[in-house]
This record gives sequence, structure tokens and C-alpha cells, in this order.
Amino acid sequence: MKIDLFRGDFVRARTDLLVVGMFEGQKRLQGTAAAVNSALQGALQGLIKAQEFKGGRGRILMLHPLGRLPASRVCLIGLGKQKEFTRDWHRRIFSRIVSTARSVHATHVHAALFDKTTDNAPHEALVRSATEGILLGGYVFKKYKKKKDRKEVPRTVSLFADKAPSPKGIRIATIVAEATNYARDLVNEPGNVITPMVLAAEARKLARRGGLTCRVLTEREIAKRGMGAFLGVAQGSVNPPRFIHLTYRPRRGSSGKSIAVVGKGITFDSGGLSLKPAEAMRTMKIDKSGACAVLGVMHALPRLKPNVAVHGIIAAAENMPGGRAQRPDDIVRAMNGRTIEVLNTDAEGRLTLADALSYAVKLKPQRIIDLATLTGACVVALGEYTAGVMGNDKALIDAVLQAADETGERMWPLPFDDNMKPHLKSKVADLKNIGNRWGGAITAGMFLEQFVDEIPWVHLDIAGPAFNEQHWGYNPGGATGVGVRTLLHYITTL
Ligand code: BES
Ligand code: MN
Ligand code: ZN
Repeated sequence: MKIDLFRGDFVRARTDLLVVGMFEGQKRLQGTAAAVNSALQGALQGLIKAQEFKGGRGRILMLHPLGRLPASRVCLIGLGKQKEFTRDWHRRIFSRIVSTARSVHATHVHAALFDKTTDNAPHEALVRSATEGILLGGYVFKKYKKKKDRKEVPRTVSLFADKAPSPKGIRIATIVAEATNYARDLVNEPGNVITPMVLAAEARKLARRGGLTCRVLTEREIAKRGMGAFLGVAQGSVNPPRFIHLTYRPRRGSSGKSIAVVGKGITFDSGGLSLKPAEAMRTMKIDKSGACAVLGVMHALPRLKPNVAVHGIIAAAENMPGGRAQRPDDIVRAMNGRTIEVLNTDAEGRLTLADALSYAVKLKPQRIIDLATLTGACVVALGEYTAGVMGNDKALIDAVLQAADETGERMWPLPFDDNMKPHLKSKVADLKNIGNRWGGAITAGMFLEQFVDEIPWVHLDIAGPAFNEQHWGYNPGGATGVGVRTLLHYITTL
């Protein structure tokens, strides 16, 4: 899809679909909608008066202009109540416009931008949110489908920009949306396609294209560095693990700012010997979502060029119950020297992250953010759409929550509690890898805290929002690429 700005006479645009909007309960059409209405000799206003259309959020009224306009179709889209209209609803409306265009096989679309958001989004932000809604909402994972099953998205979408902003908003939003869709593509690939080695090859490809540095450690090198917790998880699979370290360095390099982003990279989570039941094992190809979000971020950085050094770190492994698999009761030693008693091999993410975080600490970044599909408990606590946010630094937690809010990704804080600390104590080792029955997302986060030293750190548990059974808004069914947009927003505004 090509998105551009249209500065000509909007009403006279030659297009397959001309889109204007209306707020719920609005008496008179305004702006572009009023202009289109007069060209149609009051047809839109007439239908509104007859209560055929009330402007409810996402509602569509489609008209054939019968030669009164050059457009083949006119679409009036409902924007909902104006006092509830946010920048994120602007994204969702544009996603809806794309699905409408697909259903009527429109190749070229012209759409007005809808201002008067409650957050008073400046014009540039409207161009950005429209572009994001279009590109994120237009995503389909169709690689394994026959050609004829595909419904094509429009070739061009032209945004009416009477206030003549620069196309910069389109450029930035495109980079961010493409990075998100890249992460979605990777997560949607199944475990038989994406193994730890394939993930490492993908990281190398990114590095080559974007001028990043890439270091990949093999099993032997992982062992040499003392990453015993990570290796324990990996040893039950015939697919060997890989440790991936990508680095983006700004050209100017003056700010001295740095961050490590660490992603859980379990290419498939069977549970290991603490095997998951069949129902729970389904969709566990998504257990690499954190890692893929990190790759998505690294995909965008060479084009966004923030003045921040960024380390992307992934401990990639497959959690399988093969003959060499680790057992419950095993004791492993992480890279930072801590010993861990493995009570449940299905709590594997925190074991791999223990070593990935220890590695990150050695790079001495100013801050660390990790993303992980870590616990079912987080989904129980916050539902399927919201990520849990934890960490050791209030200011960093708040900054990440704010970035999430501005991008439309749903995130919510969960509290660490010293009362829970004893639940992670083992009788035979420094730590055990599960707590008691309660607050599982929090005990998992507190386990990770043992591996970040004093570095300001935030942990995002994305087990819920990483994957959708059903599409909603601009999030498709399947992988969502959650985290990519929040992290890029955080990094570029640092
Ligand atoms: N990858 C899972 C968590 C998960 C569950 C992600 C559902 C996405 C959807 C993780 O490795 C896991 O199995 N966690 C266990 C932890 C338990 C054994 C302490 C869980 O949540 O049941
Ligand atoms: Mn697991
Ligand atoms: Zn897992």
C-alpha cells in the first residue's frame, strides 16, 4: 500500500472510494463531508435526517454518486461520540476504512483526516495515526494460502491534507508499522519453520541490511560463558540454541544514551518434561513474541536513526521434552553465579531470561527493558489485551506506560511485593523457578529482578496481547507485534 498526501480538490478526486466522516449525534455535516454532501445534492444529509445513519463508531454508509462526482463510491464513516474520539480511535477508523476498501475491491482510496480528537492531536499526529491504522489494519499473514484466497488491500490511500503538513508523519509511521508487521510475520511462522538457528539467521540478515553489528553465540560459546540456566532449557530439543546480540549505534554518538532490549525467544514451548496439556500447548509458537518484538525494533532503528545506542538481546531456544531434557529438581547455575532449582520445566522463560539479563547487565546500559510472553497468570490478572508492566525503577515504569498510552498499546502496572520474596527461596539453591499459587506474573517478574543488578529495568509481560484469537481494531487475528511501537516511541523520544 502506498500512502500519500492529497492537496487538490478533494470532492473532485478520481478514486474508487471517497471517504468522509461524521461524529455521532452531529446535526449538520462539516468540512469535507459537507462538501461531498452538497455535490450529492444533499443525499447524505437526507439519509441522516431519515435516521438511516447516526454516526456510531465504525458504522459505514456507502453511496454510489451516480455520476455527480468522479468517485465510484462515497463512504460516510461513523466516528462515534466526539468527546470520546482519541488518536487511537483515529487509527482504528483508518483500519476500518482499509477493510471496507478491501470488501468492495477498491484499488484507490481517498480519505479525509478526522481532527477534533480529545487529545488535540496536531495535524502531523493525525497523519501518523491514519498511516499506522492503514498499514497495521491492512496486515494479513497469507504466505501459506493459495493466491485466490487473498483479498487485496488497496494499492494507494491518499489522505486529504488541506492544512498541508509535510509527509514526514507518513514516513515515520510507515517505518514503525512495517517493523510491527515484520515482527507479526516472524511470530506467525510456526515452530517447524522458525528454530533458534533460523531466528539467528534472521538477526544476521537485519544486521547486514541496516548496518547493525550482530554477534551470535553457538551452544559451545553459550556454555563457555556460564549460561547454565539458558542451556538447561535448550537441552531437551534437537534444535540447538543460539544467543543473539544485535547493536545499533548512532552515527553522531554524542548523547551517550544507551538501552538494552531483551526478548524471550522460545521458538516453541511444549512445557518440557512438565508437559503442557494439548489445549494449552496450542499457539505456543508465539512464545518467541518478545524476541520478535526486539527484532522489529532493530528493523526500524537504522531508518529512524535515534541518538541512542540500542542493544537487542535474545536467548533463543526450544523448550522440548527430549531424552536430554532437563528434569524437575535439576539445579542450574546462571551466568551471574546464582543457582536455581528447577521445580517446573514449563517456567522456562525466566530461566532463559536470567542469562539474557545477566549478559545485558555486563554491557552496562543505562536502562534495560525486557519483553516476554512469560505467564498465563498475567493474562488471568489483566485479560487478553493488556500487557503487565513491572520493574525496579518508578520513573522508567512511568515513561514506558506513557509511551504505551501514546501508541495505543494497552499496558498496566503490577506491583512487586516483598512479602512474596520468600516464595522464590529454594531449600537447596539460591532461588527456585516458581512461586506459590498467587500472583504468578509478579513472582515471575521478581525472579527476573534478581538478574538485573541495580540497573533501571522494566519487564513487560506480553503473554495476553501477543496473540489474538480474533482480530480487533487494527490488530489482526494471530500475532500482534505488541511492544514494537511502545519501545520505538520510548527510544525515539528519549
Ligand atoms: N509461555 C508460557 C506463558 C504463556 C501462557 C504465554 C499463555 C502465552 C499464553 C510460560 O512459559 C509458561 O508456561 N508459564 C507457566 C508458568 C508456571 C509453570 C509457573 C504458566 O503460566 O502456566
Ligand atoms: Mn512455559
Ligand atoms: Zn514459555
